[in-house]
Amino acid sequence: MANKIDHLAIIMDGNGRWAKGRGLPRLKGHEAGAQAARKVVEAAKERQIRFLTLYAFSSENWRRPRDEVEGLFRLLEGFIDREVERLVESGIRLHTIGDLSKFPSSLRQKIAMTTEKTQANGELHLSVALNYGGRNEILRGFRRAIRSGLSAEELDEEAFSRCLDTSFMPDPDLLVRTGGERRISNFLLWQLAYTEIYFSDTLWPDFDENALDSAISWFNTRQRRFGMTPEQIEGIPLP
Ligand code: FPP
Repeated sequence: MANKIDHLAIIMDGNGRWAKGRGLPRLKGHEAGAQAARKVVEAAKERQIRFLTLYAFSSENWRRPRDEVEGLFRLLEGFIDREVERLVESGIRLHTIGDLSKFPSSLRQKIAMTTEKTQANGELHLSVALNYGGRNEILRGFRRAIRSGLSAEELDEEAFSRCLDTSFMPDPDLLVRTGGERRISNFLLWQLAYTEIYFSDTLWPDFDENALDSAISWFNTRQRRFGMTPEQIEGIPLP
């Protein structure tokens, strides 16, 4: 039987190289990346995936040239402006994970307005990771746990998961990284413990429905064991 993807997470990499290959500025690559994101959101919904988490801006991305960082913020604002009604109408609920406190207030306001407008939706939970870093999330989670008065004995994996930005979502079943690199880049470090990881050489702006289906087909060939033996998973009695 096919595995079920309830939560798909994506590291969208390769926008810069896509632009460079066409002799275009990097921001054009991010624009094309935003279009690819739009299509993948739609495709995920059609495939009845309930949670989609996109890594749009890492806590390390502040090191990029100022023009590029500002351009990315403008792009995100424009994306929200254009997409908000479609999100509302198509049953998509927007969430963000990460530390938004350093973001421009206009962007934060737009995000707050959109998360509020879509909060009754539940067909697809679209989470955009912004100023996100896995280690930073874990640290903030510890701070939350301490502030909430949890004792050392009470702090187990479930209680700690509830202190993370991702408290409302299941752990990802499948992580896709595009753009040819084979690393996690500080994404969802706690949550990826048993996630299947698919690396694609396709640059993110070229990642389309067919590429998504290839990732899903690969995922369907995996036997998920969560630490058990193949015999246990297949229900074969152990000697
Ligand atoms: C990585 O490509 C991509 C990013 C740092 C930004 C991702 C942003 C988008 C796809 C656009 C906005 C997203 C949404 C959800 C609207 P890179 O620049 O690192 O590429 P490179 O490795 O080829 O240089």
